[in-house]
Amino acid sequence: MNFHILTLFPEMIKGCLGESITGRAIEKGLINTNVVNIRDFANNKSRHVDDYTYGGGAGMLIQAEPVYQSYMHVIEKYCKRDRPRVIYTTPQGRVFNQDMAREFSEEEDLIILCGHYEGIDERVLELIVTDNVSIGDFVLTGGELPAMVIVDAVSRLVPGVLGSDESAVYESFYDGLLEYPQYTRPEEFMGMKVPPVLLSGHHKNIEAWRHEQSLIRTKERRPDLYEKYMSENEKE
Ligand code: ADE
Repeated sequence: MNFHILTLFPEMIKGCLGESITGRAIEKGLINTNVVNIRDFANNKSRHVDDYTYGGGAGMLIQAEPVYQSYMHVIEKYCKRDRPRVIYTTPQGRVFNQDMAREFSEEEDLIILCGHYEGIDERVLELIVTDNVSIGDFVLTGGELPAMVIVDAVSRLVPGVLGSDESAVYESFYDGLLEYPQYTRPEEFMGMKVPPVLLSGHHKNIEAWRHEQSLIRTKERRPDLYEKYMSENEKE
C-alpha cells in the first residue's frame, strides 16, 4: 500500500514513520511512504507558497497552484488509478475511526494532504479532495500529526504489518468493545495479585472472564460504545 503525503514539513513525517512498526513495514516493503514537499512546486525563486487572503483578514493562505502541482506529480508518477482517494486533514472533517481506517486500508494508493494553520485556497480542495478527515474535536497547528495518525492506524491493518504476536484480533474496537486488562510477571506487584482465573490454565473460563471484563470496562469508560455493542450483539 502506498501513502503519498503532501506537506510543507516533510522531515516531521519521515522522522516519525521511519520508527517502530511502520518503520519495519517500510523496510519490508509492505507499505511505502512517499513524502512530497509542496514547497518543491513553488513557481518562484524564494520558494514561497502562501499569499494574502482575498477579502482581507489576518494571516496568509497556501496557494492552489503548488498544492495542485504536487498532487499532479503524485498522480502522474506513482498512481495506477486516475483518481485515488485524497484525504485532507482538517478539524472540519468527519471524525476518524476504526471503520474509516479499515476502509482506507483497502486502497492501493492513498494521498494525504496535510492541512496547515494558515489554510489552503478552497479551489484546489474542491478539485482534488475526496475525504475531509479530522482526528478529533480539537485544533492542532497543522495536519502532519493527523496524517501520521491516519497512516499508523491504516498501516497496521495491512496484511503482514503486525506480526502474529501483535495480531489485531483481540484488540480494542475489533469487535466494538475495549480490550480487557492484561498482566505479566510477577504474579504479585505492590500487594496486587494477578486475577487467579488467568493462572488456572482453563481456557474457556479465561475467555469468559476476558469478555466480561471487556464489557465492564466498555460500560464504564465508553458508555456510547457499550450501548452500540449491546444493541447489535446481546442483551444483558
Ligand atoms: N488540523 C488541525 N487540527 C486538526 C484535527 N483535529 N484533525 C485533523 N486535522 C487537523
